[in-house]
Amino acid sequence: MIPFRKIVPLFFIPLFIVSCKQNKKSDTPLKQEMPVATYEEPYRPQFHFSPPKYWMNDPNGLVYHQGVYHLFYQYYPEDIEWGPMHWGHATSKDLLKWEHRPIALFPDEHGYIFSGSAVVDSANTTGFGTEANPPLVAIFTYHDPEGEKDGKKDFQTQGIAYSLDNGDSWTKYQGNPVIGNDGIKDFRDPKVFWDDRSEKWVMALVAGDHLQLWGSQDLKSWHKMSEFGRGKGAHGGVWECPDLFKLKVAGTEEEKWVLLISINPGGPNGGSGTQYFVGDFDGERFTSDQTERKWIDLGTDNYAGVTYNNAPNDERIFIGWMSNWAYAQDTPTDTWRSAMTLPRTLSLQKMGAEYTLFNYPVSQLSELVETGDAQDKVLEVATKDTIPFDHLNQAQIAFKTTSKDYVLSFKNTMGEELVLTMANTQQLFLLDRVVSGKTDFKEAFANTIQQMPVDQLPEGEYEVRVLVDRSSVEVFLNKGQYVMTAQVFPSEHYNLLAVENTGASPLEMKALKINKIKGIW
Ligand code: FRU
Repeated sequence: MIPFRKIVPLFFIPLFIVSCKQNKKSDTPLKQEMPVATYEEPYRPQFHFSPPKYWMNDPNGLVYHQGVYHLFYQYYPEDIEWGPMHWGHATSKDLLKWEHRPIALFPDEHGYIFSGSAVVDSANTTGFGTEANPPLVAIFTYHDPEGEKDGKKDFQTQGIAYSLDNGDSWTKYQGNPVIGNDGIKDFRDPKVFWDDRSEKWVMALVAGDHLQLWGSQDLKSWHKMSEFGRGKGAHGGVWECPDLFKLKVAGTEEEKWVLLISINPGGPNGGSGTQYFVGDFDGERFTSDQTERKWIDLGTDNYAGVTYNNAPNDERIFIGWMSNWAYAQDTPTDTWRSAMTLPRTLSLQKMGAEYTLFNYPVSQLSELVETGDAQDKVLEVATKDTIPFDHLNQAQIAFKTTSKDYVLSFKNTMGEELVLTMANTQQLFLLDRVVSGKTDFKEAFANTIQQMPVDQLPEGEYEVRVLVDRSSVEVFLNKGQYVMTAQVFPSEHYNLLAVENTGASPLEMKALKINKIKGIW
């Protein structure tokens, strides 16, 4: 079912028609006048991507081409709430610093432009370009709000558009939609890649609460190959934003395929979440004998994440939307809404009989870390330590330890705190934002403590790395084996880190470093 948030008020319809016709921002008066973006606004992330103004959700069309990382995103350029979807656009040379570009795709007579992917059509299979100047092709979902309003079921179809100037301008394909709809209400978010083995384009597409795989030689004409997911994994909500890619198992020559599936609701700590399956793909069919449910991130705020096509050195780089549909439209920002996660490198490790997907910030993030002195801290049993640090709201905290009994609290002078707890007896890591700052904008935001089972953490030493960026926290345990991402809205910056030893032996924090992270804007 299309969730309530996607029922578009009639108010927007004329506006939508105007923007289709003019192919630029409509001259219908804005719902509210927005000040110019300064990136100094309260809660504005300093080293994460956020749009200059207005509403953003999913990352779209992640593709690397001619030295440029493209980040397209679900964008409503008229308000800070979800509305008729466009593809916003930003580019980067290093995945750290971003340049805002003009809107890439506008709604048209087929509907709004929902999530999707982009490929470099190197062999010019579409004929849209030449082999010397291969087209970038975007593959996305058309969402027809009229059809939805009329209670039809076939209002989501798939369309394509191309660019011959590395993403600066886009032309929609005349033959759109390239995949119609036989009456599946939720039928969207195509992720396309070139499959070397079967020598064709493959599209992962969600249909209700399962996956469909489609094949094509030219990105225009598609045939359905297979389905996956009935009775597999979590089904607490609709499946969204699939991604399918191959990864080498670390330290071996073995290759496995990973399927990412976002699900809303039904996430592990309420609302939205992203599960993954490890298995095999034979060019037609994805299979997995995984029985356990697995999540890429156990925090509440990493959704709709997908990976880059065509990234250099075969790297698999992931970006997620740092929010959750349970409260995304209510968070306390005024001029823009929401940010992306840090770009993260994915890797696959075999742990016992199980495959685990690790996700960890891209290595170049170290360029943004302001150097600071390392410290070693040993806290005796039942002792606490407090470390004042003025930039705790824009910082990285990292150390190594063998302990699984400690509490890290990020505090401000107003008595607000974000509490991270490693609780050995329960084999859980907990993220508590109940009194972390502003929480009353939506009940679902801070009504429970977020839990992450950590029963497979190594026995010996492991790394704890935490990145705080004004209104977000990202926790990486053992280099990305366990990850939690969450939004926080402290009324005043956190400036004190309290560490408590809750174990029976001294807590050793080796090479403890607290560093400011440089801003990118
Ligand atoms: C995921 C999602 C997608 C859809 C888009 C619409 O957050 O619901 O399934 O394409 O958002 O904005």
